[in-house]
Amino acid sequence: MPTPSMEDYLERIYRLIHEKGYARVADIAEGLEVHPSSATKMIQKLDKDEYVVYEKYRGLILTPKGKKVGKRLVERHQLLEQFLETIGVKQENIYKDVEGIEHHLSSDSILCIESLVEYFRRDPSRLNELRSLREQMDMES
Ligand code: FE2
Repeated sequence: MPTPSMEDYLERIYRLIHEKGYARVADIAEGLEVHPSSATKMIQKLDKDEYVVYEKYRGLILTPKGKKVGKRLVERHQLLEQFLETIGVKQENIYKDVEGIEHHLSSDSILCIESLVEYFRRDPSRLNELRSLREQMDMES
């Protein structure tokens, strides 16, 4: 199992490759707000654990295992964004909050959140009910 920090890297690498077709150390480091030398160290660890293949002057690619995990991480991130959006969290807080919680949920919790999102998606009147309750509580606080 990748550690939370490895998960951040794999998520970032997967996104970069998906969006740009390649992932450079500089872009990975920038996105994660770390020094390129720390990024290189982590990428070497990911290489050792067979999530990526890293060649110093040629960049890196995801192994099938890295691809699978990266895809799962990106999907989990998207689900959690959807969840926070559904329950009415302000747009400006969503990304940061997801980054804070995403590595700390069991697959049980993820599945429950997934069904909750689906529950609201199936019937928008449920969502309206939740929103008006939220507004009511907001006015009371
Ligand atoms: Fe994330």
